[in-house]
Amino acid sequence: MADSDGARVAKDYHLDIAPPTGDGFAVKGAQHLEWGMKNRLARMFDPVSGNTVMLAFDHGYIMGPTSGLERLDVVIPPLAPHVNVLMGARGALRSCIPPTVQNPICLRVGYDKSVLFDDMSDGGGLACDIAGAIRMNAVCLAAQTFIGAAGEANSLGLLARIVDSGNAYGIPTMGVVAVGKDMARTEKFFLLATRILAENGANVVKSYYCDGFEHVTAACPVPIVIAGGKKLPEADALQMAYRAISEGAHGVDMGRNIFQAADPGAMAQAVGLVVHSGYTAAAAYEFYQDTAAK
Ligand code: R5P
Repeated sequence: MADSDGARVAKDYHLDIAPPTGDGFAVKGAQHLEWGMKNRLARMFDPVSGNTVMLAFDHGYIMGPTSGLERLDVVIPPLAPHVNVLMGARGALRSCIPPTVQNPICLRVGYDKSVLFDDMSDGGGLACDIAGAIRMNAVCLAAQTFIGAAGEANSLGLLARIVDSGNAYGIPTMGVVAVGKDMARTEKFFLLATRILAENGANVVKSYYCDGFEHVTAACPVPIVIAGGKKLPEADALQMAYRAISEGAHGVDMGRNIFQAADPGAMAQAVGLVVHSGYTAAAAYEFYQDTAAK
């Protein structure tokens, strides 16, 4: 049993020292990766801003037809030009997204229990192997990891298998931090969970925003992108994105706060201005109001 009680409390995050990138490559923690892996990461993260807007529409893989995603074929293609990356499951992509789409694909390759179960953490597995991911032309593999829940060991084992298969073919992996119903969204939890995913080989980590987020991003050696979570008023969602980017996030992997917005296209563009162009939340919201269909 690890003696965690005796561990010193982490506190020196060296916020004044930039993380190593090497050779001018914009993606944090990728300096020692090989060419194909870097090339795929460079398709996800804008080489100038170093950041990304990923559009998550994978909710149906556990939730069924979420509000706003009743018809993926109608909702997602018009948003694609306004975001960097599309994140979905292979059945959704194959049936609803035209293969002519130019965005790189982050493919959800893990399955999990549905929302009908109180504890979804203990039953996940591999939904799409590496051959399937290559056939889908994925630039990134994604799976959910349940730190602090019954399924922790199972999901970390799955993450390790996905990282191994991705490494074999130069495809990066995004580890997704899952938060159980009863778990507090604290700095302490996200420090732990994001670092565990990165140290277990994830090249990108998806987390939620929290107080003390600058410590979470500083202590995570690979880029963090934030999930949007439940729908917020558009101004608040832009404020969350602004805070996250200001505190070291390298982008968003946002779903409901884009596709459930009153004008999803205008919202995707407004988020992009915060993520890539240094807009404040207020300036991006002004853009949203001016651009949204009246
Ligand atoms: C979570 O595992 C899924 O990837 C969701 O799609 C994700 O949390 C992003 O969606 P939202 O911004 O709606 O939370």
